[in-house]
Amino acid sequence: MFRINDHYLKLKAGYLFPEISRRVKQFAEANPDASLIRLGIGDVTEPLTPSVIKAMHDAVDGMATHDGFHGYGPEQGYSWLREVVARHDYQERGCQIDAEEIFISDGSKCDTGNILDILGAGNRIAVQDPVYPVYIDTNVMAGNTGKADDSGEYQGLIYLRADETNQFQPALPDEPVDVIYLCYPNNPTGTAADRTVLERWVQYARDNKALILFDAAYEAFITDPKLPRSIYEIPGARDVAIEFRSFSKTAGFTGTRCALTIVPRDLVGRDSGGDPVQVHKLWNRRQSTKFNGVSYITQRGAAATYTEQGRKEVRQRIGFYMENAAIIRKALGSMGWKVFGGIHAPYVWVRVPGGMDSWGFFDKLLNEAHVVGTPGSGFGRSGEGYFRLSAFNSRAKVEQAMERIAKKLG
Ligand code: MLT
Repeated sequence: MFRINDHYLKLKAGYLFPEISRRVKQFAEANPDASLIRLGIGDVTEPLTPSVIKAMHDAVDGMATHDGFHGYGPEQGYSWLREVVARHDYQERGCQIDAEEIFISDGSKCDTGNILDILGAGNRIAVQDPVYPVYIDTNVMAGNTGKADDSGEYQGLIYLRADETNQFQPALPDEPVDVIYLCYPNNPTGTAADRTVLERWVQYARDNKALILFDAAYEAFITDPKLPRSIYEIPGARDVAIEFRSFSKTAGFTGTRCALTIVPRDLVGRDSGGDPVQVHKLWNRRQSTKFNGVSYITQRGAAATYTEQGRKEVRQRIGFYMENAAIIRKALGSMGWKVFGGIHAPYVWVRVPGGMDSWGFFDKLLNEAHVVGTPGSGFGRSGEGYFRLSAFNSRAKVEQAMERIAKKLG
């Protein structure tokens, strides 16, 4: 008889977003005439930009010819894409990252989970709380935790609390940890990190020989040019951090799928005998074995976001969503609600008014205003009493959602 991975049985009921979809579906079936506005999952709504579409069309046409046909590509990504990423996203900002340290993939969600393949058992793992649930669930699946307690937190994980008392910037762990997940700009709170915050983490990782898994999926939404966009803008980060980035939110690739993971060659871990091992080699081995690369057509589309015109178009898209975020902040703020985030991130983090809990407020918003958001408690214990609204939608729908909220809940 075959055995399953028992660790999956420790997982809490459902992944957050499918649970939201289930409740929304139930509501929609019971209220077929209600017109729902979705500000829940951070899924983009604006179409791919003209430069991306043109590059993808050209790539498709090429695939119809012997000369332009591409079969298996390099598992790490085509060098022409890795090179433009290295130049524009890193070297131009003073980061010493070269093309071979960049691994093109089909998503940051996948990579933040897959990275656990190359980490050993017994690491002490810290996560911010509230947190993007993938970091937790993938550690549960990998057997890196014990069972969940009554509050839903897993034994063996170290939760770094982020709340209003610390401006959603958790303190350094008060016990030694080996792996730290950081997400900046943060999902879900929308908080950005300045140099001082990142320097503190890099120093901690260096002092404790720890690894930082830095999720920078929302870096393109940073509006203050003084804020770092990459952990590698901090001296000393090359030997303590892996960074994840994505074209999903930046260039509208949530359905198209393209992302990147940076593994610097200086990053060295220890095997069980204490001997040093280059992490880059392991990740390359993992990707070459388990991954066949992102499609040629998609990578051509991603590369087009780095042309002068492509960059302009991407900036416009981001500007558009950030105007939505400003509208949400202003509308809820003027109702006297406490709002956070939404300045360097497409997420607005709202203190639930009237002392309701997060899921109670989710249901109220859905039932009374027909607006879908994300309950803060779905991101962890410190998210209880908060609610996340995403800025990804059309202008008309965002404005309509704010009008409805003001009318029904104001
Ligand atoms: C979110 O809403 O938090 C994101 O869409 C999740 C993701 O990117 O996987």
